Amino acid sequence: MKKIVIFTGAGVSVESGLPTFRGTDGLWEGHRIEEVATPEAWQRNPELVQRFYNQRRKDCMRVIPNAAHRYFAELEQDYDVHVITQNIDDLHERAGSSSVLHLHGEIRKAQSSKDAGLVYPIAGDEIKMDSVCELGSPLRPHVVWFGEAVPNMVPAAKLVEEADVFIVAGTSLQVYPAANLLYHCKPGCQIIIVDPNAKQLAIPANVIKIPHSATKAIDYLAEILSK
Ligand code: APR
Repeated sequence: MKKIVIFTGAGVSVESGLPTFRGTDGLWEGHRIEEVATPEAWQRNPELVQRFYNQRRKDCMRVIPNAAHRYFAELEQDYDVHVITQNIDDLHERAGSSSVLHLHGEIRKAQSSKDAGLVYPIAGDEIKMDSVCELGSPLRPHVVWFGEAVPNMVPAAKLVEEADVFIVAGTSLQVYPAANLLYHCKPGCQIIIVDPNAKQLAIPANVIKIPHSATKAIDYLAEILSK
């Protein structure tokens, strides 16, 4: 069975109603990234960081998967499909994808601020400031902040190395190490980029570009995969 690895970013959730990170104003929901998405931000102002991610969690829980999430899940009927996502939302899982690897964490989980390996599901939509892990340390969002290690890069790279088709959808490919996944494809792997801004992205020449939104790209993807 052909192996398809799908690497997604914020653009795939846009049509569900969640914004991308790098809008024209350079802000993420009104904040500079360093204010909310770094270990230093957590040290400096944990209440702000917790409030920010509590709101992102609520946003995530009120939206639903779009046709692109569903299409990626449906591909499992014909292919061995694995999703690698930079998104912290759970829309791929809710659309029915059975193999989803999160590179940058999962908003609906909490982790110990002392031991990143201690991860817990969140009951409800908030982590309260007085919630602690089993070691007694405060719980923080289970997200990978700038400057932190990306432990799932190793299994992600392995998946990409085995891919016959590698679909990259809705990511500006500006954040490393994630963006390096493109360079782990084996020779002969078919690489397809889906992004309305595809023509502007810095990507190798042998890549098929579909310069459309994720949901509009479905028909083009179906046609390419049928050949
Ligand atoms: N369909 C597909 N792609 C879209 C759509 C859409 N409807 N709308 C926008 N895009 C594209 C944009 O053109 C852009 O190239 O999605 C991309 C989103 O890029 P970013 O906002 O940079 O998001 P992403 O690449 O996922 O960011 C990577 O950065 O802030 C960190 O950890 C965070 O995981 C995130 C990482």
